[in-house]
Amino acid sequence: MALRPVRGDSDAERLESFYVKQVDAYDRFRKRLLTGRDELMRAMNPQEGEEWVDMGCGTGANVEFLGDSLSKLKKLSLIDLTPSMLRIANKRIAENGWTNVVTKQDDATKWKPDDGPIDAILFSYSLTMIPDWFAAVDRAYEALKPGGTIGVVDFYIARKYPGKKRMRQSFSTRWFWPIWFSLDNLFLSNDILPYLSYRFEEVSLIERADRLPYCPVFWKKMPRFVFVGRKPLNAK
Ligand SMILES: C[S@@+](CC[C@H](N)C(=O)[O-])C[C@H]1O[C@@H](n2cnc3c(N)ncnc32)[C@H](O)[C@@H]1O
Repeated sequence: MALRPVRGDSDAERLESFYVKQVDAYDRFRKRLLTGRDELMRAMNPQEGEEWVDMGCGTGANVEFLGDSLSKLKKLSLIDLTPSMLRIANKRIAENGWTNVVTKQDDATKWKPDDGPIDAILFSYSLTMIPDWFAAVDRAYEALKPGGTIGVVDFYIARKYPGKKRMRQSFSTRWFWPIWFSLDNLFLSNDILPYLSYRFEEVSLIERADRLPYCPVFWKKMPRFVFVGRKPLNAK
């Protein structure tokens, strides 16, 4: 992936140029790379009649991780900026006959929910692809009902001094992975997790590091987190 040239003057054009030639193989290759998505769905604990948004949904693979819980949701909106990804998501919806799942092309940093505040929003491996990720988190906060849930799974780096309850990472980890991922226009930040914890009440957090799939001799482990938070009940 890192060797493919990415072209375009805007984020949307660069994303389309990055994904257009790999969408058909995307799910197969990402299955072992983008782990933790099933855990995130379980931790977000879907409830009857809720309206959810999967922001930066890609091919819509997360819908399958919901399993039988999908039928509890009143509506699940899959939103992405990249047309080629949404094409696969639409195909998946049609093939599975999901009647409560819709897609929409939109920008996570600018969107608003169509039908008023929503119950839950998730970002799976999408925040690190959004340069203005803080704007995407703010739009999510505004879109949620008080008490609504945000779920995020992504790669990350920790701050040098992350705080007592947080995982510490070595200097080489904090230095190596941002460079590695930037080759694919993924921008790891040591501020994403602190910002999520600042804006939302923490419900659960898993931090871990796993080996890179497909590269058995590569020793360095990739850090990732699974965060579930709640918009405070007294928030406006
Ligand atoms: C690594 S993929 C993850 C896809 C999917 N969530 C998954 O877990 O398989 C990141 C996705 O974020 C989308 N994305 C990036 N920037 C976006 C933005 N500003 N607004 C909406 N989607 C965006 C990309 O088009 C891509 O589909």
